[in-house]
Amino acid sequence: MNASRSIVLVGLMGTGKTTLCRLVAQRLGRRCVDTDELIIERTGRTVREIFLADGEDAFRALETDVLRGSLDGDEPVVLAAAGGVVLAAANRRALRDSGAFVVWLQAAPEALVERVATQGHRPLLDADPLGTLRTMAADRAPLYREVASAAVDAERPPEQIADWIVRRFERATAADPATGGQR
Ligand code: S3P
Repeated sequence: MNASRSIVLVGLMGTGKTTLCRLVAQRLGRRCVDTDELIIERTGRTVREIFLADGEDAFRALETDVLRGSLDGDEPVVLAAAGGVVLAAANRRALRDSGAFVVWLQAAPEALVERVATQGHRPLLDADPLGTLRTMAADRAPLYREVASAAVDAERPPEQIADWIVRRFERATAADPATGGQR
């Protein structure tokens, strides 16, 4: 098995990375791994607790660590990479260098704001969620674009998106088996 063929889902908070991770993993008989969950497992604390007690920089350092660990594993997985993973240049490089098939889930901030309303692990959205999502969408679009092998409209039904991701991944992998089809 080749870790370079992992599938990584990126996109803003609320784009459905966790749901799609499970659906795609199920279809491919793989494990779904989630960077936020890995941080919680490792530290025994919630994302919110880490943000509040140690600050965002400490959270980002943990995020970089678990991202690298997931990309370096022996087993190809489906990875839900939390929305801020693309902020660090080192993370973007790690994503590109890993040869993973990176899918950017795209949705309008107006559609996302309803989905994130009750999620406790998103302290950055505590104040003005729509305004924050709009700013994040503008700031992060070039970063998601930089790492993405493919982009998909995340406002469609999850089952359809999962089928689309699997088709695109299989086509890309068949076209370039050495890299898992990245670009
Ligand atoms: C964040 C996204 C969240 C979580 C944290 C910060 C971000 O994960 O890691 O609240 O900066 O986009 P999800 O994208 O899984 O919601």
